[in-house]
Amino acid sequence: MSEKFSWRSPEEIQRRGREVGVNLPMSSDTSICGMPLSVGELTLNNRLGIAPMEGADSLADGSPSELTLRRYVREAQGGAAVIWFEAISVVPEGRSSRTQLLLTRRNLDSFKRMTDAVKKAGIQANGFAPYLICQANHSGRYSNPDNKPAPLIAFRSPYLEQFRKADDSCIVSDDYLEALEERFGEGARLAKEAGFDAVDIKSCHGYLFAEVAAGFTRPGRYGGSYENRTRLLKNSIRAAKAYESPSFQIVSRIGIYDGYPYPYGFGMRDDKSLLPDYTEPKRLVQELYGDLGLRMICVTMGNPYVTTHVTRPFDRGKYVPAEHPLTGVGRMIEGTREIKRWVPGMKIWASAPTYLRQFSDLYTAGAIRQGYCDGMLFGRMAFADPDFPNQIIRAGRIDASKVCMTCGACGDLIRSHKPTGCVVRDGGTYLPYYREFLKEKNSLPKNFRG
Ligand SMILES: Cc1cc2nc3c(=O)[nH]c(=O)nc-3n(C[C@H](O)[C@H](O)[C@H](O)COP(=O)(O)O)c2cc1C
Repeated sequence: MSEKFSWRSPEEIQRRGREVGVNLPMSSDTSICGMPLSVGELTLNNRLGIAPMEGADSLADGSPSELTLRRYVREAQGGAAVIWFEAISVVPEGRSSRTQLLLTRRNLDSFKRMTDAVKKAGIQANGFAPYLICQANHSGRYSNPDNKPAPLIAFRSPYLEQFRKADDSCIVSDDYLEALEERFGEGARLAKEAGFDAVDIKSCHGYLFAEVAAGFTRPGRYGGSYENRTRLLKNSIRAAKAYESPSFQIVSRIGIYDGYPYPYGFGMRDDKSLLPDYTEPKRLVQELYGDLGLRMICVTMGNPYVTTHVTRPFDRGKYVPAEHPLTGVGRMIEGTREIKRWVPGMKIWASAPTYLRQFSDLYTAGAIRQGYCDGMLFGRMAFADPDFPNQIIRAGRIDASKVCMTCGACGDLIRSHKPTGCVVRDGGTYLPYYREFLKEKNSLPKNFRG
């Protein structure tokens, strides 16, 4: 369903939200966004963060390029308390593209230079260094280390394979998964040495860890039962915890609803509907908190290759979803609230405010005030205008003339493995790449979604 974004007030959005079945929190006062957030001994400067956004702009060896550095320096200058860095591969075969960042012992110094520069930029602009989180990832089914699909999957799925072909030879063995646990531990060690403040052992968006969590049909040690399906994530977190210290913590971005039917999706009712069942996600977050000692996570949903509208509700994209974008925004925040209520001690960053454009600040403030979450990560908005946190904190409102229009162009860029940013608001840098994409577009298959 698509509808032109024409609402002029938060009340109008809330009314339309109710018509499509969701309650959206709003507050007329954004001051809570500027309040510090305590996470154990740590105090984060405010409640606004940058969501991980792959830029596909690394150098050949996976180290950050000038373009990568430009993105993160601008974000640090913008005043967000947290910069949750994009998916960074810790194994070469799990790279999403030839230009995805890849963290290795050999290129560690280049990452160190980047984190130093980003922290300095924050201190110079705002008097504090943002908290930098390295998102360690394995792209699994969506691995393209040489810009060609080279899927590494947990199980065969007729549902997912409509969008990306795979066969039995792509299924990874239990031994491969077991070895990954140590490799993610090593990734944590490298992230620490590279100057990050935390590592995210990522389990969302259909990538390998999230797929394993949905491996109901997989036999063996990593499939079937809840214990088996969450083994990879928990053991990798355990391996990462060897490097935990007062100045380096382990966090996770968790997908709590995949948006495609059981037995292929996590957080789904087992009646093959598209309705959520948060029983397992709640149990998982409770265990991450109680048994593994994680103090902070980010909650997200969907799989950007299949259910893009669930992960990032949009106006224009590769397809017209059956649901209204406000339904997607509402599902995300209501699911996040379920988790927050279940594990109140866990600090929870919510996701996907950008569809609400100039009202995303009021929505964020409402969500924090009403206890849905502790802070908000902004994704596409940060590409459009990385200065949004300072506007909200200093002027009380986001600059409406600079907001993201959810046009989908950044999604087109990332899917075509081109340097990714905002084509509309940062066109001087990204329009040339978009022009290249448009030239190549006609050669893509009709049902191509990533
Ligand atoms: C171009 C692009 C790249 C993204 N890369 C990542 C990523 O590396 N890791 C991740 O967890 N999410 C990634 N996401 C999802 C965002 O972090 C975020 O969850 C999503 O855009 C919804 O937030 P928003 O509505 O504020 O944009 C990406 C999204 C886009 C559009």
